[in-house]
Amino acid sequence: MDPYKYRPSSAFNSPFWSTNSGAPVWNNNSSLTVGTRGPIMLEDYHLVEKIANFDRERIPERVVHARGASAKGFFEVTHDISHLTCADFLRAPGVQTPVIVRFSTVIHERGSPETLRDPRGFAVKFYTREGNFDLVGNNFPVFFIRDGMKFPDMVHSLKPNPKSHIQENWRILDFFSHHPESLHMFSFLFDDVGIPQDYRHMEGSGVNTYTLINKTGKAHYVKFHWKPTCGVKCLLDDEAVMVGGANHSHATKDLYDSIQAGNYPEWKLFIQTIDPDHEDKLDFDPLDVTKTWPEDIIPLQPVGRLVLNKNIDNFFAENEQLAFCPGVVVPGIYYSDDKLLQTRIFSYSDTQRHRLGPNYLMLPANAPKCAHHNNHHDGFMNFLHRDEEVNYFPSRYDPVRHAERFPIPPRICTGKREKCVIEKENNFKQPGERYRSFDPDRQERFIKRWFDALSDPRVTHEIRSIWISYWSQADKSLGQKLATRLNVKPSM
Ligand code: HEM
Repeated sequence: MDPYKYRPSSAFNSPFWSTNSGAPVWNNNSSLTVGTRGPIMLEDYHLVEKIANFDRERIPERVVHARGASAKGFFEVTHDISHLTCADFLRAPGVQTPVIVRFSTVIHERGSPETLRDPRGFAVKFYTREGNFDLVGNNFPVFFIRDGMKFPDMVHSLKPNPKSHIQENWRILDFFSHHPESLHMFSFLFDDVGIPQDYRHMEGSGVNTYTLINKTGKAHYVKFHWKPTCGVKCLLDDEAVMVGGANHSHATKDLYDSIQAGNYPEWKLFIQTIDPDHEDKLDFDPLDVTKTWPEDIIPLQPVGRLVLNKNIDNFFAENEQLAFCPGVVVPGIYYSDDKLLQTRIFSYSDTQRHRLGPNYLMLPANAPKCAHHNNHHDGFMNFLHRDEEVNYFPSRYDPVRHAERFPIPPRICTGKREKCVIEKENNFKQPGERYRSFDPDRQERFIKRWFDALSDPRVTHEIRSIWISYWSQADKSLGQKLATRLNVKPSM
């Protein structure tokens, strides 16, 4: 008998119940007792094992984005961008790469409703021939803050109050009153797009700026955007109450049912690129994650399509244990100096070592589908069977060598150590432009949501005035309207 043939996955072939170690179980109904009534004997190994397994079924939920749904499919290149990147999976039109995608809400728990006003996560894992590429984005193209130092405080303010365990507007508006860079993100969150109809009808964006590098080493800053072929649809506030009241998993169900019915969700991938030699020509910092790159001067370029045509087989293995990280890139795609992205590169793998254990990248959903090799081994729950005598490098006995060198951004990094804010903050222009692009009804709904939030009795006069001043700087009439309705004198 080949002992390695019978891996845990093939254990399900057994026609009878067994313990985890494979011994037959002749009674899976009753515990082993002294007499007919009990007490139960500790030697009932099967009972103890069964209960102990059950007791440990839950793992820590994600610290953010706990609620999510995933599906599988493929990405296909439709347009040649090999002049911009040497990424193997983008090498030519027609090339297909398997993917797994996880959509999520951000703030509330694993079982929370999917109808809340909240950004949505849009994370794509490409299983390429040169390793995995994780594009871990959101449905909005910008973010609240631009320095990762503020992320834990930001999340604490958005999460439920640690005393009442209720999400409270006064805490959110207090924290963000110190951060006018959040206005642009709020111009999405408090807009109609703040509650997507479901996961199929929303856009996605890489949000952070990455770098594409071609074979010759030429680098371009890049932003990634997903556009759904079935269009963007949202729920208005009343609709969200109805939908959420009827089914708090409506978006998960919609995704699952659509794929089951053969109505495969599809998105087109676009990029925007900037030559780093021209980055100073803009009135904002292109690496500032609170900014969009105006499409009239930096047009969208089509790249490919994403099709989700397969539901996951197991929610725990392919959703709970799924682990994305913005640090997981492939040759031809690199990070930028975007400070928020730099913090993200660390944070995700760090939390996953805690949430899933140090060998989380061996889990089937996370492991690369290409050959891979290194000497990082052992640790809790290592289940790779390695048969080797040389586990150090370099060695004259081990033929594994370095991969071919791939290009990384050529820019020279210099500067003195500093803790500071970026130079071109320009916090108000883009949120003002966005508000003015809404039709009057949409503007009215936006104002109403702000009025409701600022009417929280625990929001102080000072905080209300600050918000009115911020929105006035974005758009004078918007600030004026808020001030009138809240009966506050604008401070500018
Ligand atoms: C410094 C800023 C940020 C930090 C420190 C951070 C940290 C985290 C952490 C710790 C997780 C949980 C990961 C896990 O348990 O597997 C997470 C999930 C996630 N984050 Fe961030 N995040 C940041 C900014 C962002 C931004 C700007 C975006 C959007 C582009 C984003 C999108 C996501 C998504 C989509 C997930 C869920 C991934 C999944 O489905 O498993 N995050 N983030």
